[in-house]
Amino acid sequence: MKQFHDRVAVVTGAASGIGRALAERFAEEGMRLVLADVDGVALAGVANALGVEGATILPVNTDVSKAADAAHLADAAWSAFGAVHLLCNNAGIACEGVPAWEQTPETWTRILGVNLWGAINGVRAFVPRMIADGHEGHIVNTASAAGLRTGPFVSPYYASKHAIVAFTESLHFDLQLAESKLKVSALCPAFVKTSIADHSPGFPPAMRARVETGMEPRVIAQRVLEAVREEKFWILTHPEFDELIRTRFEGMLQGENPAPHIFGATAPID
Ligand SMILES: NC(=O)c1ccc[n+]([C@@H]2O[C@H](COP(=O)([O-])OP(=O)(O)OC[C@H]3O[C@@H](n4cnc5c(N)ncnc54)[C@H](O)[C@@H]3O)[C@@H](O)[C@H]2O)c1
Repeated sequence: MKQFHDRVAVVTGAASGIGRALAERFAEEGMRLVLADVDGVALAGVANALGVEGATILPVNTDVSKAADAAHLADAAWSAFGAVHLLCNNAGIACEGVPAWEQTPETWTRILGVNLWGAINGVRAFVPRMIADGHEGHIVNTASAAGLRTGPFVSPYYASKHAIVAFTESLHFDLQLAESKLKVSALCPAFVKTSIADHSPGFPPAMRARVETGMEPRVIAQRVLEAVREEKFWILTHPEFDELIRTRFEGMLQGENPAPHIFGATAPID
């Protein structure tokens, strides 16, 4: 997608962090925005701030884990603007850091509900209409470097992010085979300075410290914009994690057992 001005972007999880930064960056390009979040108060704040700067914003309270909410979001977008060109399935949460056998069914349901079903619901609600409209467009699913490598303690998060990477790659193949004009990207950042720890009860303290010193969300948003413009599928933003990803796949091919590490660092988890 080369043109952004006046085109319509939908961003989920837009009230904070990476989603907010995406909304701000897209507004700078003159896009019209449909912003979705489960936190209606924070969402209204972001919508007001961007509106004051002159952007055209439609905030829609949405729980992305609910198919009916995603369908309502799509209806609202087409009613307001008549089209959607850029869909960012970005909303996500993390979980407490405990061994895999202690993660509760409730945690699994919550994490998979938002991180995986959120993207599935978004694709199901938006992509058929985007295809039918027949114009250029792009879908960005926010996965994580945690979708390309693994580690201990947050198994539901790793599982959800591996699943969204696989889902996003399949979507890319399916759209190609359908000869659609829609392109796809998988956003796979490592640590980004957002409020994810505050939005995720029990968030591991060692991981919180990495998030607080992480990359600025506006840097991620710039990378997303460039990837959409250049039609790049993979958006890997943290080169310092490349070696861990490479080691994982090479070890797999060599038949080596996964080597222990914690969140890509040697620091013990507390
Ligand atoms: N921060 C990081 O280090 C990091 C790294 C890799 C990937 N990610 C991913 O980036 C995405 C955005 O996270 P962030 O770091 O900006 O966190 P954040 O908590 O700052 O923002 C996430 C937003 O999603 C919203 N949200 C949560 N559940 C929702 C739901 N059910 N429906 C709609 N909105 C919901 C929250 O209210 C919040 O506004 C997530 O998918 C996360 O997994 C984050």
